[in-house]
Amino acid sequence: MSKDQKETRILVTYQSQTGNTRKVAEAIYEVLPEPKEIRPLKEAQSLEEYSLIFLGFPVHGSGPNPKATSYLENNTKDKQIALFITHAAPEDAPEMPESVQKFCDAAGEADILDVFHCQGQLSSIVKTVMRFAPDPQVREWAKMDNSKGQPDASRLEKAASFAKRVMEKQNTPVLSNGE
Ligand SMILES: Cc1cc2nc3c(=O)[nH]c(=O)nc-3n(C[C@H](O)[C@H](O)[C@H](O)COP(=O)(O)O)c2cc1C
Repeated sequence: MSKDQKETRILVTYQSQTGNTRKVAEAIYEVLPEPKEIRPLKEAQSLEEYSLIFLGFPVHGSGPNPKATSYLENNTKDKQIALFITHAAPEDAPEMPESVQKFCDAAGEADILDVFHCQGQLSSIVKTVMRFAPDPQVREWAKMDNSKGQPDASRLEKAASFAKRVMEKQNTPVLSNGE
């Protein structure tokens, strides 16, 4: 690296209640070049020292939960970020673009390099609660759920490819995994 090239310091940070978004975060982290760090969102108080941040969240109620919204609104201004999102609905569900857009809107003052989203298994506790929800639509969603086992290996591979694409946009080399 030449003297005038600034080193890209990368952070992967995520919110994850049941581990799906954390798995995606780890798949992303694995292919990123040093210097890099990975930590849960609650341990990433400030993004100031990082030049590129991968931020991951689960969809809660068709978008970011209040903590995610406030974090994105208050911490990402003028930062280069890449978003990754997990949700129980299939990737091609008609409501997904709108749900994903809500995360982008919350990070409206950031430079969003790319967004990745994939299915993540709905926890059995949440599914049970949904089965007894007053809203028939929610009960229907619980019945239709096909997210078991997600994110699977192919989705984690796609997450790694997403990270590589983001790094290419950054013009920073990625670690080779022999592909
Ligand atoms: C309170 C709550 C609300 C949720 N709302 C949605 C939703 O609106 N749409 C959806 O596709 N998945 C929804 N999910 C499922 C999660 O987004 C999905 O299981 C995600 O992968 C969980 O990520 P995590 O394991 O990192 O917490 C919801 C889950 C919870 C707990």
